[in-house]
Parts: sequence; C-alpha cells; structure tokens
Amino acid sequence: MSDKAILEYGGGRYEFPVIKGTEDELAIDIKTLRAATGMVTLDPGYKNTGSCESEITFLDGEKGVLRYRGYSIEDLAEKADFLEVAYLLIFGELPNKEQLEKFHNDIKEESQVDEEMKKILDGFPKSAHPMGVLSSLTSALVAFNPSCVDVSSELAMYNSIVRILAKFPVLVAWTMRKKKGLPLDYGDDSLGYVENIHKMMFKRPNQEYKRDSIAIDALDKLLILHADHEQNCSTSTVRIVGSSHAGLFASLSAGISALWGPLHGGANQAVLEMLEAIEADGGDTKKYMAKAKDKNDPFRLMGFGHRVYKNFDPRAKIIKKSADEVLGSLGIDDPILDIAKGLEKEALEDKYFVDRKLYPNVDFYSGIIYRALGIPTEMFTVMFALGRLPGWIAQWREMRLRKEPIGRPRQVYIGETLRSFVPLEKR
Ligand code: SDX
Repeated sequence: MSDKAILEYGGGRYEFPVIKGTEDELAIDIKTLRAATGMVTLDPGYKNTGSCESEITFLDGEKGVLRYRGYSIEDLAEKADFLEVAYLLIFGELPNKEQLEKFHNDIKEESQVDEEMKKILDGFPKSAHPMGVLSSLTSALVAFNPSCVDVSSELAMYNSIVRILAKFPVLVAWTMRKKKGLPLDYGDDSLGYVENIHKMMFKRPNQEYKRDSIAIDALDKLLILHADHEQNCSTSTVRIVGSSHAGLFASLSAGISALWGPLHGGANQAVLEMLEAIEADGGDTKKYMAKAKDKNDPFRLMGFGHRVYKNFDPRAKIIKKSADEVLGSLGIDDPILDIAKGLEKEALEDKYFVDRKLYPNVDFYSGIIYRALGIPTEMFTVMFALGRLPGWIAQWREMRLRKEPIGRPRQVYIGETLRSFVPLEKR
C-alpha cells in the first residue's frame, strides 16, 4: 500500500505522507496541508482527526479491544492492582517489587493535604456538585504546590506525579465526607493504596476501620477499568490545557470539568438516575426505549453508545460480570440491576440501536457497583475521575516530554464579510 496520499484540487496535485501505527492504523499526515494548498480540514468533534501519536493506550472500537501499554484490559483487571496499572500507564512498564514499593512509599510521603485547603472546602455549600468541588480543590492545590512541573527534570516530574497521586484521593474522600456531613478523615500509611482510599471514604468517626475486601477489590478493578482511554474528551482537554505549558494540576482540573458532562463521565450518574426513574415508573423500559429513539425527545439511553466502540465496550462486559459478583457477595438484590439487564437485552435486539451500533459502555453498569458500595450517586463521576487520574497524568507527561506544540485548531469563518460601521444614532 502506498505511503503517500494524493489530494487533487483546483488544478493542483498534492502529496501527503501516510503514516502507520504499530497496530497498523493509518493516518494522513497533513502538517503541511495549509502551507501547500491554503486549505484546512473541517471535522467537528474530531471524529476523523488524530491529535497526536501516543504509546499509552490502544483501542479498536470495531473489535472491542482495549490495551494499556500493550497489556489487555482483561489481563490487567484480573491480575494487576490499580497502583501497578498507574505506574504502567505513566512510566510505560509494569513495576517490579522494589519499584512498586518505592512508588507507594513516595506517594505516602506526600499524602498530607495542607489544612488551609479545608477552608476552601468549607466555602462550598453541601448542595455543591462534587465534581465542581473536586475541580476547584485540584486547581487550588497549585497554590500549595506552586512549583509548576519542570518537565526538563525527570525528578521534578516524578515528584509532581507522586504528589498528585497522593493528594487527589484525599480530596476525593474529603469531597464525599463533606457532602455526608462527616469529619474529614486522614489516610493510614499502613494500608494499601486503594484500601486507604476506602478507609478515607468510609471510616466512621466513632468506629475502628474494618477492612472490606469485597469492596476494596471491586473498587480496585473499577479504577483500573477507568484508568485511561486514549484521546477522549477529558484527556484531550488535559493535553490541550497542558500544551500551553499550564502546570499538571491546572490541566487536571480542566480535565475534571470536561469529564463532568453527562455525555462523557457524567453518564454514570445519569445512568443511575435513568434506571431509578424507570423503576419509579413501574419498570416500563419500553417507554424509555421509545423516548431514546424519538428524535423530538432529547432523552438518550444513558450508558449506551460510544464515539469509538461500535461493538461491546470491553470494560462494560467486565463491569457487568463484576456487578453480579459484588452484589452476590454482599447479599444485595438490587432491582435496578435487573432493570439494567432488561434494558440492555431490549436495546441489543432493537433495530434502532443495532443499526447505529449502540452498545452498553463503561458507564452503564458501573454505578450499580458504586451504589452497592455505599457511594452516593453524585459521587459516581468523581470515582471515574479518580480512576482516570493516572491516564491523564500519563498523557500530559507524554505530551510535554514529546514537546508537542500548543494546541490551536483552525476554523472556517461563515460570518459577515467586511461592512462599514453605523453610528448609534443611525441604527
Ligand atoms: C464515556 O470517548 C471516550 O473514550 C469516553 C469514555 C472514556 O473512557 O473516556 O469511554 C467514557 O464518555 C462513555 C460514553 C458515556 N456517555 C453516554 O453514555 C451518554 C449517551 N451516549 C451518547 O450521548 C453518545 O453515544 C456518545 C456521546 C457517547 C457518542 O456520541 P457520537 O459518537 O457523537 O454519536 P452521535 O451522537 O452522532 O450518535 C449517532 C447516532 C445518532 O442518531 P442519528 O442522528 O444517526 O439518527 O446514534 C444516536 C444519535 O442520536 N445515539 C443515541 C445514543 N447514542 C447515540 N440514541 C439514543 N441513545 C443513545 N445513548
């Protein structure tokens, strides 16, 4: 196959290199397009546009394949833990025992959050959405860690990374406890990374912390499954904010805001609210399927469809199986799970969904597990952000180390052409 693409237009003939990725993906390199032709491309939502070359995550939407640094999501979810996966995504290799131990110890060293941060948290009303609180607290962290990342120093980069991996879970736990009116809990360095997150979130002030293995293992798996997903909306946001050389924490804060949207990470909360509405409506899934297909109705079947996956989202398969296991182990019989399964079955047999290749995505079943673990619905997207943190860090680090240019797309102007100014008295 030729390694050149030809564009013929207006009597001109232009050649552009075709590049091939390690998984045989092909791309037309149009870096010289405007200089050669005076034209730009137009691609709202970047459905056909690659923003970068990356070594971190590969996914094949047609085949439902997802790999982090070459390892399948199925293997990692089954055999690794979240801290190992975070190390893999960020530094490119699975850590050996010593590397993992040092990584965890370095994170523990940074796990204190300045007491002054509590004043910012206290400034929010209890009704504040946790994603808005988390994005603000993450941005506020810059004030307490003013040194922007000196990317020319691997040590400065490493220190910034372990700092945010240490403090972000504290902010997540504090955000939830504030909403629940609970005193803010500090971590316990003797615990595992995810075990400590569970402790900070759930330890009751008047009781000893009791390790809940089922919950911790479920949480660990969910965090792995959310850890990265190539150039999705929030990751692209982290990259483009970071491309202006804004610091890591500021870029992450922007990514949290992008993830908040119900079309993106906010979908896991919207799915649970949809399932609860269906339950309240007597379990009438057919009514909601009709709404989802009605072009005049803005309602969408939340947790269904995906920009890239035109087959099953592999994460959804794993989470669906885990939901059965977790609820079974906890002895929870949640009618919402049955409604979700009924909805999935109907959609997979419905022409509208089949024709549009709309399958359950990562958000469809995850909230059922979060709910079983006692996590409030409004915190579901915060849990998505906690999982996605290492992916955002990895992508930001890659973008900076590769010295990518500042992101600045072009446009096609369709507004007014030049016209003369009309004084106020004549308008
Ligand atoms: C995430 O990109 C990532 O990787 C994201 C993510 C990650 O890990 O970072 O995977 C996480 O964000 C998962 C997606 C969570 N969002 C939802 O579950 C919200 C519901 N789904 C959608 O709104 C939608 O499917 C998107 C936003 C996910 C994808 O939208 P696209 O790719 O822009 O597709 P589209 O809106 O152009 O839809 C194509 C057709 C349209 O119908 P027609 O105009 O062709 O007739 O499918 C229809 C849409 O109306 N459609 C749906 C639908 N999703 C698409 N119809 C009903 N219900 C839906 N959920």
